[in-house]
Amino acid sequence: MNALIAQSQIATQPEPSAAVAQFLKRAPRLFIGGEWVEAKSKERISVVDPATGREIASVVDASAADVDRAVAAARAAFDKGPWRDMLPSDRQALLWKLSDLIEKHTDELAELESINNGKTKFMATVVDVAGTRDYFRYMAGWATKLEGSTFETSIHGPPGMKFQTYTAREPVGVVAQIVPWNFPLAMAAWKLGPALATGCVCILKPAEQTPLTALRLAELVAEAGFPPGVVNVLTGLGETTGAALVAHPGVDKVAFTGSTSVGKLINKSATDTLKRVSLELGGKSPVIVLPDADINTVIGGAANAIFFNAGQVCCAGTRLFAHKKVFDQVVDGVSAAAASIRLGPGLDPKTVMGPLVSREQQERVLGYIESGRKEGAQVMTGGEAPASPGFYVKPTVLANVRPEMKVVREEIFGPVLVAQRFDDSDDIAALANDTPFGLGASIWSNDLRAVQRLVPKIRAGTVWVNCHNFVDPNMPFGGFKQSGFGREHGRAVLDLYTELKSVCMAY
Ligand code: NAI
Ligand code: MG
Repeated sequence: MNALIAQSQIATQPEPSAAVAQFLKRAPRLFIGGEWVEAKSKERISVVDPATGREIASVVDASAADVDRAVAAARAAFDKGPWRDMLPSDRQALLWKLSDLIEKHTDELAELESINNGKTKFMATVVDVAGTRDYFRYMAGWATKLEGSTFETSIHGPPGMKFQTYTAREPVGVVAQIVPWNFPLAMAAWKLGPALATGCVCILKPAEQTPLTALRLAELVAEAGFPPGVVNVLTGLGETTGAALVAHPGVDKVAFTGSTSVGKLINKSATDTLKRVSLELGGKSPVIVLPDADINTVIGGAANAIFFNAGQVCCAGTRLFAHKKVFDQVVDGVSAAAASIRLGPGLDPKTVMGPLVSREQQERVLGYIESGRKEGAQVMTGGEAPASPGFYVKPTVLANVRPEMKVVREEIFGPVLVAQRFDDSDDIAALANDTPFGLGASIWSNDLRAVQRLVPKIRAGTVWVNCHNFVDPNMPFGGFKQSGFGREHGRAVLDLYTELKSVCMAY
């Protein structure tokens, strides 16, 4: 199989456009209360292009004092500002305006995302930026559709007294939103969109590796005309800025996407002030291939399920389970597909897969591959980094894995598929559920009865059938088990950003 890897040299990263080069030179600042302010913190974080390993910009590592200032601005905007009294239709219009600005700056945003995260500019354009634009448009619509209900009561009041009772949804308040580096702009949209639609105010903290599009987004927020303090953006490390936000008594809710271990820390810390918490965490999603499945559809689909975004996807299809009848065909096909993927820098239009986000992530993923090898896994393709200063890992398929291996149990978050064979379709739900995670799963089959019987047995927040990784703003998304709690998107997300108020009026 190794002979199939015709990976020649990695191309060099083309120069960024003039607009992006200009943006990269901006002084490190924080976006607080509608202004770009000088940080109290003197600490800076180096922002790196993962295709070259070179610094491209520097941002602030916001301190607890900076967090205090942002929380004060957000509190003022929520408690005293014009935002709470704004008509829902005006909130809707602002969100739509923001999405128009995102669309207008698609090229620049996609380029920034590409040189900061490593993904190709093409993918950043069609997935991240287009998805962000559409997400704000979808969420804009909810601003005018919030509703409560009236209900009957049987309260035994004084004779003659009647009651009018109803519920109203009110914004939860100041929300700290901590997002990861795999889809930096889109993750910001998943957090800001519903919060702004419901009338909350936000303090967004992008991941330290990928702060650039969040900073550009803050400029667009200001241009759209959101009142000062409604959206604040603090760059910084998780341990400094993130932890200070989570502990802050002025923050009403934390919304987090990231690792399960940090999710647990956040949940513990938020307990002290009983903040609302929603967590979208890691996964180890199974891809289940039943014996009747169409092999060509499966090969392309399973390869995409794991290699999309270089495997840095919380719901990536990382554990392949193929029935013994089709196992060899599927694994050989996916391995050949993996070997044919062209690695390169994100701005090179010939690139299919970019580098991983950071040296740390590259080393983590290579460490997992090594542990799999040591435990007896067979490397069907990939299994190493190509010679390059960039943080590349070749798309990798590991066969001969056993359920207790580290590569099968832990989230790798890179382009590494572990393939297991099953003999009896009756056992497959138990195998697929043998994980602490429960974010996604896919079933590949045209046998309607088999699919319908399997879907309810899978302990995961999303089950795809004959597809994987497709998300929609109207389709709830979130995890069972240690993949977190709360559902983003759709009507379900409104529960995460509103408090339900009961009003009981005697007359
Ligand atoms: P991480 O969970 O540490 O980082 C995600 C976000 O949390 C970042 O904004 C970070 O600054 C913040 N953060 C970190 N520590 C914090 C703390 N103590 N308090 C508040 N905020 C904090 O993820 P990391 O270290 O970048 O990646 C490690 C692994 O996590 C990956 O290999 C992958 O397995 C998983 N991961 C999962 C993601 C998902 O979408 N489910 C996204 C990113 C990472
Ligand atoms: Mg971390």
